[in-house]
Amino acid sequence: MQQPFRILHFSDIHVGALVRHMGWKRWFSKRGIGAINLLRGRASFFDEVESKMAAMVRFKEEQQIDMVINTGDYTALGLEHELSLARELVAPMMYPPQRYLTVPGNHDIYVHEGNSHYRFAAHFCSVLQNDLPEYCRGGHFPLVRLVGEDIAVIALNSAKPNPWPWRSDGHIPTVQLDAFAQMLEDDRLKERLLLIMTHYAPRLANGEPDKKLHGLHNADDFLALCSRIEKGAILFGHIHKTYRVDIAETKIPLYCAGSATMEGYEGAWVYEIYNGTLSAKRLYWDGSSYSFEPLCRL
Ligand SMILES: [Fe+2]
Ligand SMILES: [Fe+2]
Repeated sequence: MQQPFRILHFSDIHVGALVRHMGWKRWFSKRGIGAINLLRGRASFFDEVESKMAAMVRFKEEQQIDMVINTGDYTALGLEHELSLARELVAPMMYPPQRYLTVPGNHDIYVHEGNSHYRFAAHFCSVLQNDLPEYCRGGHFPLVRLVGEDIAVIALNSAKPNPWPWRSDGHIPTVQLDAFAQMLEDDRLKERLLLIMTHYAPRLANGEPDKKLHGLHNADDFLALCSRIEKGAILFGHIHKTYRVDIAETKIPLYCAGSATMEGYEGAWVYEIYNGTLSAKRLYWDGSSYSFEPLCRL
């Protein structure tokens, strides 16, 4: 019997660099406030990121995962050192490179530095190859990966630097949405099951839009395009809570991976695609490994 195609989707691992890696000038920016938050304790929620990523690598190997999707926020402050460490931790899952897909999160391009997007791309260039590069509109996105005869993944970049500390919102540039609309008419994609991935959540777990300063600005425009899709799913992160939500605007479900590493909130998804149908199993952290069974806390 033919096996289902298995996809691991995780997100928001938030590798935190030691603050001493920051130059003094960066204290006078959003990074300074981010660093103070780290010192005040946010970082402690992600203390075990290295051992958890080692466990994720083991899970991937033991569970015969065919493809891996990561929806961004690899880092806390978008520092070179953090990106480098994050890349090192996920590298064992990036083989073959055609079977690893990713987008940056807002934390990966934390503030305007001219080179923020390029820095992310430099670390992840080996997995940013595009099967339909004619739709690419600047940077590497939209990025399409054709998987066998029946599946395609479309990655849209919704992350942008947020210079103001009280903002962590995003948007999908109009040129990317226009390209996405054209893709949906492309015969090479029409009959496939489509997985649409981006960093920001188009809807919260209750089906409502996220707050203006934290959400995806043009979520409605994005979902209007997704409403044309008959089979597939919309995959994202940003919200540190693992959930599935079905909404009236689309025929396909929305899956938030949450954070794979945030203590007490760890989660991820494994999708199985078989005969054109997608089913999903939630992943939990049991203290030493990821499994499909929630840890029973007495
Ligand atoms: Fe995050
Ligand atoms: Fe985020």
